[in-house]
Amino acid sequence: MKILVTGAAGFVGFHLSKALLDQDIQIVGLDNINDYYDPQLKKDRLAILEKFPNFSFYKIDLKDKKDVDDLFVKEKPDYVIHLAAQAGVRYSIENPSAYVDSNLIGFMNILEACRHNPVEHLLYASSSSVYGGNKVAPFSTNHQVDHPVSLYAATKKSNELMAHTYSHLYDIPTTGLRFFTVYGPFGRPDMAYFSFTNRIMAGESIDVYNHGEMERDFTYIDDIVSGIEKLIAKAPVANPDWDESKDDLSESFAPYKIYNIGNNSPIKLMRFIKALESALGMEAKKNYKGMQPGDVKRTYADVSDLERDINFKPSTTIEEGLEKFVEWYKKYYTK
Ligand SMILES: NC(=O)c1ccc[n+]([C@@H]2O[C@H](COP(=O)([O-])OP(=O)(O)OC[C@H]3O[C@@H](n4cnc5c(N)ncnc54)[C@H](O)[C@@H]3O)[C@@H](O)[C@H]2O)c1
Repeated sequence: MKILVTGAAGFVGFHLSKALLDQDIQIVGLDNINDYYDPQLKKDRLAILEKFPNFSFYKIDLKDKKDVDDLFVKEKPDYVIHLAAQAGVRYSIENPSAYVDSNLIGFMNILEACRHNPVEHLLYASSSSVYGGNKVAPFSTNHQVDHPVSLYAATKKSNELMAHTYSHLYDIPTTGLRFFTVYGPFGRPDMAYFSFTNRIMAGESIDVYNHGEMERDFTYIDDIVSGIEKLIAKAPVANPDWDESKDDLSESFAPYKIYNIGNNSPIKLMRFIKALESALGMEAKKNYKGMQPGDVKRTYADVSDLERDINFKPSTTIEEGLEKFVEWYKKYYTK
């Protein structure tokens, strides 16, 4: 079995690739190693993956269709796990074109490559941000997600629509994974848990948005990896009798499925800061601020589909997860 993992030098792609390589699965990694955050972190992740003989890597930008096509023709992956994207909600206000290039054109190139080089299953990262301004919680894949509040969310929702079209027209089994705030060792420096750690360690104050009145369904990286691993073999099957008036919106008459992968347990921002302070053994100076444009107040995943289909539910607590993150952080930055 050969799996193409896009975004292999990224946070989730690195952990997933490593877990699969540990099981002797052949991994082809793709990434453009862009500088949205410190590329050294991406190179360090890759250096770990490159120690495995069954790992090969291609530095390719997804928006270059010919490079993506050539890779598929050469490597003929059986499965594709598409994680490369321009991530981040706040950056989509500053640099919207990066989202169009990587998340729309890049995703289109992956779909076209899967159309012309058939694969057993295409899994791709969506995001909890598609729930946008929804108020009904926990967020269920059976809820409508037509009211995004950032361009990032709009591109992820577009990916789900594009995937559905390709599942229907070309019989490509696709599974969209709506991740909820993923954190852990080798994580993303642009995310709050990481930037808060940098600032607390440097004795600087942290910006606490919406005056601390925020909740996030923080999901530890190992839980995300376990969820993806269990879903690889679960290629969705078309249900010709699917009827939107009574059936689940996350399924279809096409071989298409959407899952939430989240902790099913939203954490108040102040509890998260306390857990981080306790893991660091330091107190944060807090700078209370208003709501940021594009942000949502709360995320909360309904994961009943995951429990039903793969008998799995993320379970790492924020305290356990942050301990592991801080342990890695201190080791990595004092080497
Ligand atoms: N981490 C989270 O909390 C979270 C939450 C929801 C969804 N997601 C989604 O999960 C996926 C993985 O996220 P992550 O946290 O690992 O992010 P990441 O930024 O660490 O990883 C993404 C990788 O994709 C690469 N990439 C970006 N654009 C590319 C392009 N045009 N061509 C080739 N490579 C490109 C980047 O260099 C990076 O290494 C993304 O699709 C993201 O949108 C992440």
